[in-house]
Amino acid sequence: MSKVATLEFDGKKYEFPITVGSEDEIGIDIKKLRAEAGLITLDPGFKNTGSCESAITFLDGEKGILRYRGYAIEDLAEKADFLEVVYLLIFGELPNKQQLDKFTADIKEESHVDEEMKKILDGFPKSAHPMGVLSSLTSALIAFNPSSVDVSSEEDMYNAIVKIIGKFPVLAAWTMRKKNSLPLNHGDDTLGYVENLHKMMFEKPGKSYKADKAVIDALDKLLILHADHEQNCSTSTVRMVGSSHAGLFASISAGISALWGPLHGGANQAVIEMLEGIKKDGGDTHKFMQKAKDKDDPFRLMGFGHRVYKNFDPRAKIIKKSADEVLGQLGVEDPVLDIAKGLEKEALEDDYFVKRKLYPNVDFYSGIIYRALGIPVEMFTVMFALGRLPGWIAQWREMRLRKEPIGRPRQIYTGENHRDFKPLGSR
Ligand code: ACO
Repeated sequence: MSKVATLEFDGKKYEFPITVGSEDEIGIDIKKLRAEAGLITLDPGFKNTGSCESAITFLDGEKGILRYRGYAIEDLAEKADFLEVVYLLIFGELPNKQQLDKFTADIKEESHVDEEMKKILDGFPKSAHPMGVLSSLTSALIAFNPSSVDVSSEEDMYNAIVKIIGKFPVLAAWTMRKKNSLPLNHGDDTLGYVENLHKMMFEKPGKSYKADKAVIDALDKLLILHADHEQNCSTSTVRMVGSSHAGLFASISAGISALWGPLHGGANQAVIEMLEGIKKDGGDTHKFMQKAKDKDDPFRLMGFGHRVYKNFDPRAKIIKKSADEVLGQLGVEDPVLDIAKGLEKEALEDDYFVKRKLYPNVDFYSGIIYRALGIPVEMFTVMFALGRLPGWIAQWREMRLRKEPIGRPRQIYTGENHRDFKPLGSR
């Protein structure tokens, strides 16, 4: 394979080195393009642009492969628990018992949130979307933990990391409790990370809390499946904001906002709303398939299609199986599961979807599980954020340790050329 790519422009030839990743992905290193040729590249949506080199997550969209630090997502979902995966993503290796115990203890030590934060939450209307509230609270957390901002040593970073991992479930649970008019609570140190999250979300005043193992296991698996997905929209946002050295919590807060959109993490809420809409309309999946294909109709089949996966989304496969298992274990019958399966079957046999390589993505079935676990629809994307937190942290830490420069894309300007200023009276 050639070690350089040659570009010819205006009669001159320029050579750019080729960078090869550990899975043989090939990139043209154009760092010197502008300096040497006076050109920039134009790639809206970054469909062909690598923003960084990263050793965290590998995915092959054609083959449907997803690995965290080299471990297959199927193995991790089956055999690891969430905190092990958190450690793996952030620090690069699966922890041994001693490392995991220390990490868990450090997180527990930081799992309280300042009482004053409750006043901030109090200022939001009950109708506020939990994702907006979560992003704001995460940002507000900076004021109570100012040492988390200026982090340049690995130790400072570690302290900021365990702080946000410890406090994030409290904030997430509070956004739900506020909506449900439940008193704001704190966690229980004797419980595992995921069980503690569940307790904080669902504990009722005056009632003793008891978790169903099937529920906690399902939640744990969902968090693992969402934990990282390389340079997606929210992760790129986290790296971009972090590149200005704005601090971990500010970067995560921005990532939450990016995740909120229905074309990204917000799709899990949009899927359930779509499935409910189809059910209410009589359950005719064919009618909605036609709408999805009609270019004059803004309707899209939510939970279908992916920027990178053009074969299948391995997470969707695991989640579909898990949806069947969890609903069975909990004895929940949800007619929208049948509608979802019907839509999937039709889409997989439909020319429009086959040609465009549109397959169910991670969000297509996750909402059905969340609903079976009693999680309100508006909280679905918050659950995604809880899962994605370690990925955001790992990517932010990698970006800082590699001393990456501030993110600052260029543009091709297409506006007016210079014109003379006209005073107000003559416009
Ligand atoms: N329903 C109907 N048609 C679709 C869908 C869909 N869900 N997704 C893509 N298409 C069509 C487009 O109209 C386009 O058709 P054309 O070539 O005739 O113009 C073609 O497929 C390619 O679609 P793009 O939007 O160009 O693909 P892109 O990579 O930019 O977008 C995205 C990917 C945003 C995920 C898109 O498939 C989508 O909107 N899906 C629905 C929302 C969703 O489920 N998002 C969650 C993604 S996973 C995640 O973020 C966790």
